[in-house]
Amino acid sequence: MVDPLPRFPDGFLFGCSTASYQIEGAVHADGRGPSIWDTFSHTDGRTRDGDTGDVACDHYHRYPEDVALLADLGVGAYRFSIAWPRVQPTGSGGPNRAGLDFYDRLVDALLERGITPVPTLFHWDLPQTLEDKGGWLNRDTASYFADYTSHVVTRLGDRVRRWITLNEPIVHMAQGYAYGTHAPGRTLMLDALPVAHHQLLGHGLAARALRAAGAAEVMITNNCTPVRPDGDDPTPAAIYDAFHNRLFNDPVLLGTYPSFLGDALGDLVRDGDLDIIRTPLDALGINYYNPTKVGAPADEGPLPFETRPIEGYPTTAFGWPVVPAGLTELLTGLKETYGSALPPIYITENGCSTEPGVDDQFRVDYLDAHLRAVHDAITAGVDVRGYFVWSLLDNFEWAEGFSQRFGLVHVDFKTLARTPRDSYRWLQSALRPR
Ligand code: BGC
Ligand code: BGC
Ligand code: BGC
Repeated sequence: MVDPLPRFPDGFLFGCSTASYQIEGAVHADGRGPSIWDTFSHTDGRTRDGDTGDVACDHYHRYPEDVALLADLGVGAYRFSIAWPRVQPTGSGGPNRAGLDFYDRLVDALLERGITPVPTLFHWDLPQTLEDKGGWLNRDTASYFADYTSHVVTRLGDRVRRWITLNEPIVHMAQGYAYGTHAPGRTLMLDALPVAHHQLLGHGLAARALRAAGAAEVMITNNCTPVRPDGDDPTPAAIYDAFHNRLFNDPVLLGTYPSFLGDALGDLVRDGDLDIIRTPLDALGINYYNPTKVGAPADEGPLPFETRPIEGYPTTAFGWPVVPAGLTELLTGLKETYGSALPPIYITENGCSTEPGVDDQFRVDYLDAHLRAVHDAITAGVDVRGYFVWSLLDNFEWAEGFSQRFGLVHVDFKTLARTPRDSYRWLQSALRPR
């Protein structure tokens, strides 16, 4: 028996997060085009055991059951992502009505159960046709993204009031374009930097399209990590902080790039771009998993920093250290850094992978400790408005395939049966009105 959670402010939003390619399956249904993740996961050696999102949780067909799970859990909101290749199978042109119909049904099902839909417009499944034109290395992708956004908000904007443009542009740039561990699998290292600017430009253009359509709340979701210097020289940690955190927070909140990264971007940043990128946000989405320890690279590598394991903490099934205090530190640090330029914050992802079974006391302890860490930040004066668990369901964990399980709900990937874990029951009772 754990102590009851501290009381959160009135209106504090509890939710769960998922992403299209990780749960939907149905990759050929209703005119969906291929995305970079279809290509990548079907390429030999890219994902663990060759797993793909072809079926995943088959959420595309089983969404009523998943909405019922959300309703029984008692959360007030659901963050999901919209698959661009369902809306525009080749990334541009008129919308595919049948693809939008799916999100229309999903939104209605959520609203019927009193759950606020919080869609993310891009969670990494870029239409393959756009990748063939350079993906996010191509500036035009930003404008295509804004067009796609307009199609979605035109269809759903009468019922959806809160929107997230991009999910974790740092992770998409780093893993997708610098290290090649995610789709599209490019290994450009520092030459991946334009991907940051073009995603941010796409974010700004999409934010304007959403506003023009009357959206009530627009945000971006950034993955942030408190950086811990290792060794005598603090410079590598400062550089890492600039790449991982400030490259994406500074331009959207302040309209500037960290100076050396702005220099590196050079002419790519055209007049007016930063004004677009700084289009005012109603809130900032933060995804937190763990702090990062950074030191100087051992030998002349392509990067000016090296990340190192953090020792002395329990680790998740993924091997990630569990450091709840890092979340408080991150939130109070954001307030210190950005002051009045910091809008209200939603934690749009936080969670852990565990052993497959439904007995997941590890996740209960993880969520309990991180919710307390969020509460500590609120007590310290940070305006945090909500917390979304990653994830509702076990799902396709990108390069790790189905081997890493993040769900409050266990999924048997042979039968697709859903079974709530202990953590689901725990959260359900924590959310019950007292
Ligand atoms: C695109 C324009 C877009 C502009 C934003 C250009 O690359 O082609 O459509 O409005 O970037 O600054
Ligand atoms: C990091 C996490 C990060 C994740 C992104 C991991 O290596 O430890 O902090 O969120 O990558 O997939
Ligand atoms: C991503 C999720 C992912 C989670 C766990 C985040 O970086 O947004 O899609 O499943 O981390 O790795």
